[in-house]
Amino acid sequence: MDYSRFFSDDVPSFMRSPVREIFRKVDLASIYSFAGGYPDAATFPVGEMESLTRKVMEKYGARALQYGATQGVTELREAISHWYGPRLTGGNLPLENIQITTSSQQGIDICARVFLNPGDVIYTTNPAYLGAIQSFKAYRADIRPLPLFASGDGHVHQDQLPGKAKLIYVVPDFCNPSGITLTLEERKALVDFARKEDLLIIEDSPYRELRYEGVPVPTIYSLAPERTLHLGSFSKVFAPGFRLGWMIAEPQLLEQIFVCKQALDLCPPVFDQYLALEFLSSGALDRNLARSLELYRTKRDHLLALLQKYMPEGVSWTHPEGGLFVWVTLPQEVDTVAMYDEALSAGVAYVAGSFFYLDGSHRNTMRLNFSFLDKDRMEEGVRRLSHIIAKQIG
Ligand SMILES: Cc1ncc(COP(=O)(O)O)c(C=O)c1O
Repeated sequence: MDYSRFFSDDVPSFMRSPVREIFRKVDLASIYSFAGGYPDAATFPVGEMESLTRKVMEKYGARALQYGATQGVTELREAISHWYGPRLTGGNLPLENIQITTSSQQGIDICARVFLNPGDVIYTTNPAYLGAIQSFKAYRADIRPLPLFASGDGHVHQDQLPGKAKLIYVVPDFCNPSGITLTLEERKALVDFARKEDLLIIEDSPYRELRYEGVPVPTIYSLAPERTLHLGSFSKVFAPGFRLGWMIAEPQLLEQIFVCKQALDLCPPVFDQYLALEFLSSGALDRNLARSLELYRTKRDHLLALLQKYMPEGVSWTHPEGGLFVWVTLPQEVDTVAMYDEALSAGVAYVAGSFFYLDGSHRNTMRLNFSFLDKDRMEEGVRRLSHIIAKQIG
């Protein structure tokens, strides 16, 4: 049967994620994967889940299994206000500014759904997070590189400003994929630009708490709360399987988000919210996070040392202060898209950098994740990858 007439006009704009396609084709356990942004399973509170679950059942009983409020469980919003408020603004975070999301990916998608008409311009960094590009494309937005950074001279050129721009989307802390953190000056310039052009800013920050060195840079939300929607996530500080995150914004903006979310899933997962509440309010999350930071710091350092040891001349890479990714630049002649099948045959997976570029350029770059593999497997993976790259350089 030909089903084509049943699909909506949006469907041709849907984009497959090359990252998720990789996972569809290969068994992660059988390869050396630097591809996904998977946390190390050792950071998941597996041992504590039994007592955590019992505690939730004893304390909340059937409430934890019932439908819940669309904006999220009130006690969890209060706990986030206490824990995250000082981190976000250095001060108070009122409850009416907090919406629980079914993970930050949903937060991005809701923003796209609420704010974007087909053809509306949204600015982002280039390269940018693929999951966000997927959402913006699905609503047929016109995604463009942020003029502020695209010009290379820190100035916005008028010819780079099309009409109908509404939004800026950025991952200012340890960006996926580049690993870059925007400086305070860059954040201020971005806010000035947003104010001048009257744009809203989506500040997507799932990696903010994963800082291994240096000092946190003030959030964009703290610089411009009136026009920023800040997205946080439990995925990297608790476990991604719960699919929980939060959105912080002005109540007038959250009101529309709230109505949109009703149609999406009625409410965030209630049982998961109570688990997150107990984990957060008991202090277990902070203890777990401290252990995760130690683990990820050593894994990052290990990957950087292995790149130094094995990569051929002409290859360079970033030194991220946090997050989960190192960005690698190879000599111009190396095409990481073309090289991919050979790498996979050798048992190694990475993500070609060009997938994150709006125009598919920079085919000589790749993103390497350092959280997933254990240290021994990481060494064998880098050794194999370096060997393949060396062959390409010739
Ligand atoms: C920049 C960015 N935003 C959002 C997400 C989605 O996270 P979540 O698990 O909270 O949906 C990711 C996932 O890796 C990400 O890297």
